[in-house]
Parts: sequence; C-alpha cells; structure tokens
Amino acid sequence: MSWSVSAAGDRPVRCGATLYPGSMSAADSTSPTPDHPRTALVTGASGGIGEEFARRIAQRGHALVVVARRRELLEELAVDLRERYGTVVETIVADLGTPEGVASVTERLSADGSDGRAPIDLLVNNAGRGDGGTFAAQDTAAIDAMLDINVRAVLHLTRAVLPVQIARRAAGEQRTLGVVNVSSMAGEIPVNPGGSVYGAGKKFIALWGESVAAEVRGQGVHVTTVLPGFVRTDMTRKVQAQGLPEFAFVPKEHVVRDALTAWSAGRPTVISGPQYQVARGALRLLPRFVMRALARRMA
Ligand SMILES: NC(=O)c1ccc[n+]([C@@H]2O[C@H](COP(=O)([O-])OP(=O)(O)OC[C@H]3O[C@@H](n4cnc5c(N)ncnc54)[C@H](OP(=O)(O)O)[C@@H]3O)[C@@H](O)[C@H]2O)c1
Repeated sequence: MSWSVSAAGDRPVRCGATLYPGSMSAADSTSPTPDHPRTALVTGASGGIGEEFARRIAQRGHALVVVARRRELLEELAVDLRERYGTVVETIVADLGTPEGVASVTERLSADGSDGRAPIDLLVNNAGRGDGGTFAAQDTAAIDAMLDINVRAVLHLTRAVLPVQIARRAAGEQRTLGVVNVSSMAGEIPVNPGGSVYGAGKKFIALWGESVAAEVRGQGVHVTTVLPGFVRTDMTRKVQAQGLPEFAFVPKEHVVRDALTAWSAGRPTVISGPQYQVARGALRLLPRFVMRALARRMA
C-alpha cells in the first residue's frame, strides 16, 4: 500500500463550483472536515469502468484512492491524474478476493479525518469479475473467488465506510457522502443460463443496495446502485468478438456519468442507456413461463 501526494501539492485543484451535479454547495465552508479535500475511493480502477470513474472524479477536483491488483497500471493512472488535474492520488494494491486485501482497504475506509488522512466521501464498489459457464461445470474455486470479490468485498467495504459517513453527517457535515455500487443488468434477467452465479451475485448487490439506501437516506448518506448493460471493457472481450449489435453496448462514459448524477440526486438505482431501461420494463412484463422457454432455447 502506498500513500502519495500530488507533485502539485496536497490540495486538489477545483474545476468548478460543484464536483458532482447538485452534490455540493457553499456549505462546504461549514464542513467539520474543511481541511480535507473531497475524496473518493474507487475499486477496480486499473481498467474499464473503474478507471473511467477515477478519471471523471479526478477531473471534478476530488482527491482519489484507487484500488486494484495490478500495481503498474494503478501507478500509471495515479501519475497521469496528478499531472492532468493536480489531484491527490493514493494507490492501494490489494486483492479484494482475499481477507487481507479487503482489510487493507477497510482500514483506509475507516479513517475519520482525525489522523491526518482525508475521510472517504464516496466509495465506488466497482471491482468485479464475470466468470460464466454452465453451473454444473463451473470451477468451485472460481465460483468462490467471484462471490468474494463481487459480493463479500462490497459488503465489507461498505460496512467499513458507512458508520464514518453517518457520524460525519451527524456532526454537521454538509457534503454529500455515500456509496456507488456497480451491479449489472445480468441480475435483472430472471433466468440466466451460463451466467447463473454472476447474475445472482449482481442481483444480491442490487437488492441489498436498495435496502441499505433506505436505511441511511434519513441520515444524509446516499447509496446508489448502477445496473450497466454491456460495456466495452476487458470483461466483455468474448462478447464483443461475437459481433453483438452496436446498440447492445453502453459507453462507459455514460455509465459513470449516469451513476454519479443519480448518486448526487440520492436515487437508489440507475440503469444507463434507454435500450436497457426499455429492456428492464419488458423483462418485468414478460410472464415467467415465456422467460423460461427463451432461456431453455438459449441454453
Ligand atoms: N463490462 C460490462 O459489460 C459490465 C456490465 C455490467 C456490469 N459490469 C460490472 O462493472 C464492474 C467493472 O467491470 P469492467 O467491465 O470494467 O471489467 P474490467 O475491465 O475487467 O475491470 C475489472 C476491474 O476489477 C479489478 N479487479 C478484478 N479482480 C480483482 C480483485 N480480486 N481484487 C481487486 N480488484 C480486482 C481489475 O483490476 P486488477 O485486475 O488490476 O485487479 C479491474 O480494474 C464489475 O463489477 C462488472 O461486474 C460490467
């Protein structure tokens, strides 16, 4: 784990009056943590959607803590963000599929500002893996690893940061605080042959996220779960090679923009892309027997 400070100094450059639409106001001056820059922690920031979250958040003037296993990619990203935006960027090299990796990140998330480290205003639970295959043939170690990162780590990281955020709000913090979870439309498909564990794990996050959002909303903390459809990243290389039509893909820029806008507005869930909003409506209307018949044909 490394703690690095921008060459431009330990204050981030502000790029505008607000960092996320509607998330911040002049109330910042009355914040109990005025000496700390607004800070976001993004997991899985070494590529794909997580890197896009890190870039857009840095562009808006936040300090960042970026987490992933691939040290070189994280360090390259940190250097680039410091040079481009003058932001403070810390890197944590951690495997979120292990208890040690999760512990190193929860330790950072539990910082409340009293030890000189900026408390985390926004946690983005993005890191994930997307193993598929028929369940009867799936490797059990790979199933465990996927559940550890896609589900268990998300719960533990969120459990670490929420008490700090709730206490900060209770102490008069005016900033928007909270969590963004990256779930998936795969969890919205009622019958998902070839993606049973991945889809069920993502559904878990969506259901759990909505409940936690309701629990903490009254305390001024926002929890938002974003449900992307297909996005062009390393995770979907095989799908991309299968030649899916262009309309099946949502740009990662849109996923991140929509997630941050929904989080700022305090919305518990958001689906990015009109095609997937329509798809979810249709999935809810289709009778289950039709879904099962379609799924059998797909399988
Ligand atoms: N792409 C899509 O179509 C799509 C659709 C819906 C939802 N999602 C979700 O979006 C999120 C990001 O996916 P992506 O498409 O951006 O995938 P990606 O390009 O493969 O990126 C995955 C990120 O997660 C990190 N990661 C994987 N295993 C990790 C571990 N054990 N510990 C720490 N970090 C780990 C990777 O970093 P390291 O390898 O460096 O650790 C990488 O930064 C995932 O939760 C995924 O389920 C993706």
